[in-house]
Amino acid sequence: MSHNTQANAERLPRKGDEVEAQALGLGPRGHIMGEVQGIPVRIKGCTAPGDRVRVRLLRKGRGVFDGQLLEVLEEGPEHTEPRCSHAGTCGGCSFQGVSYAAQLKAKQEWLEAAIADSDLVVKPEVQAMIGMDDPWHYRNKMDFTFGSRRWIEDHEEEGVVADFGLGLHVPGRWDKVLDIEECSIAFPEAAAILNTTRRLALEQNLDPWDVKEARGLLRHLVVRKGYQTGQILVDLVTETESPERIDPFAAALLEAHPEITTMIQGIHARSAQVAFHEEQRILHGTGVIEEVLAGCTFEISATSFFQTNTPQAEHLVECIREAAGLKSGDVLFDLYCGAGTLGLCLAKQQSDVRVLGFETVEAAVEDARRNAEANGILNAEFRVGDVRAILEDSAEGTLPQADVILIDPPRAGLHPKVPAQLAALKPRRMVLVSCNPLAAMGDLARLEFLGWRTTQVQLLDLFPHTPHVECVFTLSPIPLDQ
Ligand SMILES: C[S@@+](CC[C@H](N)C(=O)[O-])C[C@H]1O[C@@H](n2cnc3c(N)ncnc32)[C@H](O)[C@@H]1O
Repeated sequence: MSHNTQANAERLPRKGDEVEAQALGLGPRGHIMGEVQGIPVRIKGCTAPGDRVRVRLLRKGRGVFDGQLLEVLEEGPEHTEPRCSHAGTCGGCSFQGVSYAAQLKAKQEWLEAAIADSDLVVKPEVQAMIGMDDPWHYRNKMDFTFGSRRWIEDHEEEGVVADFGLGLHVPGRWDKVLDIEECSIAFPEAAAILNTTRRLALEQNLDPWDVKEARGLLRHLVVRKGYQTGQILVDLVTETESPERIDPFAAALLEAHPEITTMIQGIHARSAQVAFHEEQRILHGTGVIEEVLAGCTFEISATSFFQTNTPQAEHLVECIREAAGLKSGDVLFDLYCGAGTLGLCLAKQQSDVRVLGFETVEAAVEDARRNAEANGILNAEFRVGDVRAILEDSAEGTLPQADVILIDPPRAGLHPKVPAQLAALKPRRMVLVSCNPLAAMGDLARLEFLGWRTTQVQLLDLFPHTPHVECVFTLSPIPLDQ
């Protein structure tokens, strides 16, 4: 027994201790929940429920420790070897050490617990989760960051390049970039493009962004792929245009990766750490790629919003279609429609339904209109505006009667005034899509109070190996005699 472990037997564990713990379950924020001497611990690292582990206790708050995994002492039945060497550090897919079946089960249980704890009087039926047959390399978009302060891993030797990183931020460290060399959830070609970009940038002495000084040429590398078309877009976001430095770099990258169908340069001089473009230059190809979803072809630019998991988005459209139960002549409101992906897929499948989409971001609405035209969809219209304001105006008869309302709000859920506005529209059915079950429970409870019953929930795993889960809730009016 080690000195520390012996000490544990004699006193309660404290911050800084290295202790044995039992991993018990998956936490909705991406941790593995465990226990040490009866005290809960949120474990960071690739472990699985049932494992016996050694952890370093980092801090304690509200009776729960945060702990860093040091070693798996004994593997439990759900333990799986992570595929990616960065798992456990990068934080992108914190459940890589857990069997996929156990991940799906945990997500289903979270939703069931959220429903049980909710204010809903009548609890909806939960359908079995739709998972992926092959839960790897599913992301069709990755946004990598350049940084002048690279995260140095414990096993790295002294003297390694520390002032150039290209990859992802280490969780909780906005200033440090972890060099990513492989990624098990990004589309297969993404890692090779990323590694060539790093090599060429180092060879050509292109300076990365320094987040503290707010300067440096290279800021982001965004890569996107159309799964159904095979087309690949590379977006290099830089501080300045600097064609004398960027053009030779782009030529070398394109020569090494002829699979890249289009390359653009986005210019972003402001300090915000997002892959935003104030201006852009097309360096190769058309500047856009195409993706096919549910029979529609979508044109995707570097900045347009699109579902990141194409195969699961097909299932999502199908679930929404079933939940909506559209009939000939129906008017469907697609609220918070983004670039119209969902509404357009439904409009294409049912040309006798009229779709009206609403969205605040003007560029997304322009994308939706362009995609409607390109697909010959005449039964979908899109308007720019805040849903709350649009629904307020609709009380004055400016909108047609909605038969079905599809609602796909941002993570935080609906503005508190929106449920009453929705109920006042008296549609036949509502379908709420949410990636945040807790926010959804509040919205559903408000709608229940207003006479709307949640009858069914379908869960989809859009993001395997992460704690995210997508839910499709079906709502119907409560009959007057109940
Ligand atoms: C979860 S996304 C929906 C994406 C879309 N349904 C799709 O699948 O492509 C939420 C969308 O709501 C938009 N949004 C946020 N607040 C809004 C508001 N108050 N009114 C209208 N749209 C809003 C965001 O710009 C974003 O496009």
